[in-house]
Amino acid sequence: MSDWIPDGIDLSKPSAARVYDYYLGGGHNFEVDREFAERALLAHPFAREMAVINRTFVRRAVQLMVERGVRQFLDLGSGIPTVGNVHEIARDCRVVYVDCEEVAVAHTRMILRGSDRATVVHADAARAEDVLSAPETVRMLDFDEPVGVLAATVFHYVPEHHDPFAALERYRDAVPPGSYLAISHLASDGLPAMIEQMATMMKESRNNIHPRTCAEIARMFGDFEMEQPGLAGVANWQSERPVDATQHLDVGLLIQAGIGRKCAAARGSSGTG
Ligand SMILES: C[S@@+](CC[C@H](N)C(=O)[O-])C[C@H]1O[C@@H](n2cnc3c(N)ncnc32)[C@H](O)[C@@H]1O
Repeated sequence: MSDWIPDGIDLSKPSAARVYDYYLGGGHNFEVDREFAERALLAHPFAREMAVINRTFVRRAVQLMVERGVRQFLDLGSGIPTVGNVHEIARDCRVVYVDCEEVAVAHTRMILRGSDRATVVHADAARAEDVLSAPETVRMLDFDEPVGVLAATVFHYVPEHHDPFAALERYRDAVPPGSYLAISHLASDGLPAMIEQMATMMKESRNNIHPRTCAEIARMFGDFEMEQPGLAGVANWQSERPVDATQHLDVGLLIQAGIGRKCAAARGSSGTG
């Protein structure tokens, strides 16, 4: 078997990580993922564009944080490394990747072999304590210095009973002022019928989705100060100028994205109630 195919991997169902990899043009996916991805495209022709635009948001978020002096990143639900991985954008920075999917972790481990500034943790991002206390995290990140926490299209895979709000509160509390949190998340209130269809389809995969309202997604930032344009359709983060909203209407309404900064006075834990 190739290094990126872990032994005993369950190929009976597609995984979000591998479908996303397929949409981004990566090669770490299987027939079951490609077949599902193509069927999803028939139902939602903008699905591939959603992946690409979301990836652009990740790049923008990392660039903004680097410009503001962030030199270390915690990338939750980092996915299968295709192109534009955080350690490639943020050269000279330290990065901890976190994912719960076997192929994502195996491939990340493979490409990071020999690296002393990036590592991967195989964990559930909702179990913040496990992630923060993992030996790789403790070794790589200094929580006395600003940290860029990335949570791009990951917490909508976390069900209510795993309390994504409490997990994000824990991450916000763990980082010092000057740190940043970037979130993109499927929204339930933009196109409710369409998101319902997507949720039904994702039940065939290993990753059920749990879209949330814009108000709930905003709450995930606690009292972090939001960067312009605030919590907005992910397409708004594509360029310095506002994008033509009509072109990206579906994507914009389906994925909301924002970047927050922890201020000196921020408690980090408010807004989670
Ligand atoms: C759509 S991909 C996003 C990858 C990357 N964050 C990005 O935005 O480009 C979602 C990733 O989240 C991972 N994931 C889903 N639920 C997770 C969880 N509870 N803990 C850690 N990773 C998770 C999936 O395995 C997948 O790799």
